[in-house]
Parts: sequence; C-alpha cells; structure tokens
Amino acid sequence: MNSVSPKERIELLREQLHKHNYLYYVKTQPEINDFQFDILLQELEELEKRHPEFNDENSPTKRVGSDISTGFEQFEHAIPMLSLGNTYSEEELRDFDLRIKKSISEPIEYVCELKYDGVAISLSYENGKLVRALTRGDGVVGDEVTNNIRTIRSIPLQLFGKHYPSKFEIRGEVLMPVVEFKKMNEARLKGGESAFANPRNATAGTLKMQDPSIVARRPLDCYLYAAAIEENIFDTHYESLQACAEWGFRVPPYSKLVQSLEEVFEFIKHWAKHREELPFEIDGIVVKINSFKLQRILGFTAKTPRWAIAYKFKAEQVVSRLLSVDFQVGRTGAVTPVANLEPVQLAGTTVKRASLHNEEQINLHGLRLNDRVFVEKGGDIIPKIIGVDISGRDEDRPDITFITHCPECSTLLIKKDEEAAHYCPNTTGCPPQIKGRIEHFISRKAMNINAAEATIDQLFSAGLVYTPADLYDLSVDNLLILDRFAEKSSVNLVESIRESTKTPFPRVLYALGIRYVGETVAKNWHLILNLWMLFSKHRWKH
Ligand code: IVH
Repeated sequence: MNSVSPKERIELLREQLHKHNYLYYVKTQPEINDFQFDILLQELEELEKRHPEFNDENSPTKRVGSDISTGFEQFEHAIPMLSLGNTYSEEELRDFDLRIKKSISEPIEYVCELKYDGVAISLSYENGKLVRALTRGDGVVGDEVTNNIRTIRSIPLQLFGKHYPSKFEIRGEVLMPVVEFKKMNEARLKGGESAFANPRNATAGTLKMQDPSIVARRPLDCYLYAAAIEENIFDTHYESLQACAEWGFRVPPYSKLVQSLEEVFEFIKHWAKHREELPFEIDGIVVKINSFKLQRILGFTAKTPRWAIAYKFKAEQVVSRLLSVDFQVGRTGAVTPVANLEPVQLAGTTVKRASLHNEEQINLHGLRLNDRVFVEKGGDIIPKIIGVDISGRDEDRPDITFITHCPECSTLLIKKDEEAAHYCPNTTGCPPQIKGRIEHFISRKAMNINAAEATIDQLFSAGLVYTPADLYDLSVDNLLILDRFAEKSSVNLVESIRESTKTPFPRVLYALGIRYVGETVAKNWHLILNLWMLFSKHRWKH
C-alpha cells in the first residue's frame, strides 16, 4: 500500500497546477474545469500553510495565472488587473459580508453582476480614442491585442460626448455568444477542423491569433464591467458604469443594486435558474461594494480585492462508487482508462462509465477500487471523475495502477516523454487499431463506404480485411458465406466499395489516417506539396 508524504503531495499538486495553468492560459486547451482547479489549489494552500518548511516562491499559490504568450508586444497595466476571490457556497458569502461589516459600520450597498465566462480585457482610451487593448497576462503586464480587439463591433473606437476623462482604462470580458459559437463549431467540423471545447476556449484562442482578418470573422463580443478611472470623478461603481454607457460603451443591463445579502441570494437564485436563457455563458455572479470610498477603505489582499467576491456555479455533480477500471485502445494506439461506476442519475441520464483520461489523472486522485468518487458532466462532454472522497475509504483496497501491457494484444506499452498518454506500439497487429483504421477509412468524411462497425468486426474476424486495401479485393462470393450477409447486402457493400474509388484525392489522403493529417491538411495537400518543393529547392541551393 502506498502512502504519500505531505512533501510529495505538495510537489505533485504544484506540478499539476503549473501544468493546468499552462494548458488554460497558454495553450487554451484546459483539461480540467475551474472547480477542479480550485479544489487542487485549495488543497495545496492548506498543505503549504501546515508545512511552511516546504515554502517555494514559485508555487502556483503565489501568483495569479498568466496568459502571456509569444508573438505579442507586452505592456504594463496602469492599474494591476487582479482576480476575484471565489466561493461556491452561501455560507462563504455570509462570511464575506460579515468580514466587511466588521470594518465598516455604515450601511453597505452591493452591486450584483453576472460573471461572464470569457477572457478578461483592459481597454485604454486617450482623448476618447481606443489606443490599446491588453489581456490580463500576469496581472501586471499583459499582451497587446489591440488589432484583434478592434474587430469587435460593440467596442467603441471613438467615444461619444465630451465628459469622459482624457485618459482612462475600462475592463471587461470578451466572449463568444453561444448560438454563434455552435454555428462556428459546426462549420469548423464540416471543414475538417477540430471543434473548440467551449465558447471561452474559442475566445481565448481567437484573441491570441496573429491575423486580425481571421479574428474579424469570428463572432466575438465584449461586456464591460469596471472603469479604472484614476481621477476621482464618481462616487460609486454603478454610477461610473452608467457614465460609460453614455460615452458609447455597451454596459451589460443585468447588474442590480441591492441593500442586503438576502437580495444577493435572490439574484444568485434567479440567474442559477435562468442562465441558459442568456445569449452567452456565465460561470457565476460577482458581488461588489458600490461605494468607491468603502472600496478604498477595504483595499486589497495580495491577489484580490476585499470589496468584491465571485460566487461560482457548480457544474452538476453526483457521488458514485468506483467498481473497476477498463483500459481502451483507440485507432491511434492510445490507451484510455475508463472507470466503471455504480449507475447513477446525472443531468437527465444514467451514468455508468466515466473517463479517467490518463495515468496522471489516476495518480492525482490517488484512486482505489470501491472509492466514493465525484462525477461531473459539463455540457455535452463525457462524464468525468473530478475528485475522490477519502473519508471512510477501505484502506486495504489496492491502488489502481496503470497497465504495462496492451489489454488487446499484450504488447508492452510505451509512453513518450512529452505526452500524457500510453500507446500500444503494435500498430499492425493490435485488433482495435486495425479495425479503428478501417472504420476511419470508410467513414462518411473519408471514403464514405456504407458498412457498420459490426460488419468491419465480422470482416476482420473472418480474416478477410486487415488493411483498407483488402476491402477492394472483396467479392460478393466472399461475403455470402458470412453470417447475416444475404445476396442484397453483399452486392450493396461491394457496390459501395467500388463507388468509393471515385473519391477525390484530398478525402483519400484524409482516409489514410496519418497523424496530423486531418481534413484541412488533406484538402490543402497541393499547398503543402508546393511548400515542400520550395523548401527542398532552398536546401539544395545551400
Ligand atoms: S470584476 C479586481 N466583474 O472574472 C477584480 N470580473 O477573477 C475585478 N469577470 O478574469 C474583476 N465577469 O475578467 C469582474 N462582472 C464581472 C466579471 C468579472 C467576469 C472575470 C474577470 C476575471 C475574473 C475574476
């Protein structure tokens, strides 16, 4: 039985949090959601508090995340862009209110706002003109993405009236409305490109593109939520936003001024129920003290303001029990661990299986058989295990260890350093890889041969088809001796295979299932060929 020391656990958590920060901010391809991230961060904060001897200035707890990437000029924010403290419970919101009331005796007015699920942006205006747009970056320095931001029509390039400060910053969230996001994803899939996981990833990826003309074609939008005006011209946050609306900014109409915590809870309940009706995604609500004077009195901690807090909605979750773990081998040989769970109702369906992604995820949760596990379903993604309840755990149960050999063909698995997945290298002898390649080959977007998965199984088991090329040797007579193949179905299949010989070249190239050759690359084969010829000519000259 393995027992992990606090030092080892701290190191593992730091490593994981650094990685997830990078995946989120730099690659814009997160593998875990905010809630899972916060759980890990909280555990690390707890452990670091209890073990100051393992202090590290570079720990993920010591900084706000960074989205700095290469290729953009960087500028310092006039006022640092901090993040908000998060809570997931009403109780913590009551604590927030109590803390404030301890230092302030006058009545408190709060502004309740939606927490837009997009990418933070800071816009600088000088003499009424947009001069610069910066991402949050590390909070102090951000990437300059002005040309991309200029493509967003709801952002004024020139302000109205005369009463705006000569120099100020306004902050908000760039996002992609859900309907447009879905349309864009459908078009991408049709064009053979990969779909974005959610509107926020699509937004983050788009903002970091080098070509503003592509950005202009993406349906970005922006909601502004805070004016960082140094001159002391407004008394309250609410008032400052109303003024911004008069200068031409689109200030969201969803904010509400309230005088009590009970009204804050009403706002939360309302939007928890009606969030699906909004044109964009939100991940919670934000509560801010309205008075700038009180905001100044309360000030900031190292990372967050004391006068505001974010209440985040939890994704729908249930508890189940881990019965066993299967290992599945895909077309590319990648091995994915899948948890078999005690059946449980979640978001309208019965969940019996959940993805465990890879070995790292199993180790991170320290899973054991029979553990009580938290299962979450976000949007249309397959359910996943996001945590484990170790209280009342049966300590005698063994840890789950990753298999060393392929469950299908017993070949020793390999793991490349830079990748999280294990692979079965037996590409030509491992049944799910062979069948997977044929299934890909005949798929609609590839050769469009009319055969079900079960048919491929049958052809493979009968020893008739090992590679896509074998399909073209099949005859009606070969098929007729197989179970469930009558004259008509045999003729149809052979006919469909014959018809596929007319498939245009780019689809044939895609059908071969070469790594990194998706539909788009395949469609642009001539460009790639030209590039390659240029490249070889160039090399030959030197
Ligand atoms: S106020 C000093 N208001 O949430 C902090 N932030 O951790 C000022 N966000 O990435 C932030 N909606 O971009 C504020 N109505 C709202 C917001 C909001 C979304 C984002 C913000 C930041 C994160 C805060």
